[in-house]
Amino acid sequence: MNRREFLSASAAVCSAEWLLRGLGLGAEEKTADLKIHPITIPLPIEREVTALHISDTHLAYANDRDNDAMRDIAAKRLKAFGGKTLEMLRASVLCAQQRGELLLHTGDMIDFVTDENLRLTSEALADHDCFVSSGNHEFARWGAGDDDGKEDEAYKTLSFDRVQAAFPNDLRFCARQVGGINFVAFDDVYYYVADDLIDRFRAEAAKGLPIVAMCHCPLYTPELFDYSLSKDGEKVAYVIGAPDEKMKAAGYPNHRFRQQRTNAVTQAFLDYLKEETQLKAILCGHLHFPWRGKFSETAEQYVVGGNFFGEANEIHFVPMG
Ligand SMILES: [Fe+2]
Ligand SMILES: [Fe+2]
Repeated sequence: MNRREFLSASAAVCSAEWLLRGLGLGAEEKTADLKIHPITIPLPIEREVTALHISDTHLAYANDRDNDAMRDIAAKRLKAFGGKTLEMLRASVLCAQQRGELLLHTGDMIDFVTDENLRLTSEALADHDCFVSSGNHEFARWGAGDDDGKEDEAYKTLSFDRVQAAFPNDLRFCARQVGGINFVAFDDVYYYVADDLIDRFRAEAAKGLPIVAMCHCPLYTPELFDYSLSKDGEKVAYVIGAPDEKMKAAGYPNHRFRQQRTNAVTQAFLDYLKEETQLKAILCGHLHFPWRGKFSETAEQYVVGGNFFGEANEIHFVPMG
């Protein structure tokens, strides 16, 4: 049995209990069971690169530096997310450490901005190699007293520097080469992208390496749109780039239509991505359920389920045969 076969055989369930015991952390720690899905992506690379992809941890904690409103919201949200968000994150980091894998996180690490959520994020990511993109919840100012509900750049800016300090790489755009793969993380958290993203992405493609893109909101395809609608009671797909007519036909509520409507810059970027042959995979989250499907002639899109459920994808980037 080679390493890949061993990892696949052991990938179905990864209990944090043995991981914690293995590190001498004691049985008093709560346990959390990860549900790890093995995925293989052939790429033009020399040797295998393995990564654990997680998303949507939704840490929901507050401490005495946060205010009463935040503590109240955190208690309710933690319960709503199953009560083990921190345990799931720690189990994921430990699992990646034990298996020698790069940890990839595609946003909503925190549920909303609190001192405690950011402290726990820094602490959890401190001892392992991790590469991230941000999520819409990263900048949520619930309980802060100035939350106008607008999800735009001005709103994001209110929290950006403080949130950025808790994460290992630039949350707006960052490219990193690992084992001949160019991981390119970008911000699409409010269903639009930055004006200069297309130029920055093209510059990365010009480097000639296969690109694995990372973002939070999944990118529209007809198949994903239909599947996501079928999973949502409100009949909203929560993808970036959905055509107006499809959102109208689905009966999106007005506030969701306005929130998720595509602008010209974003559409131009998505049109470019469809044709970019260096793009080989897209990793994302946001939907809280797993999905995978074709995005373009060269790239498959992988939506990972919620980390708060214990969902994770173990991705084996393997040399093309
Ligand atoms: Fe989320
Ligand atoms: Fe999200």
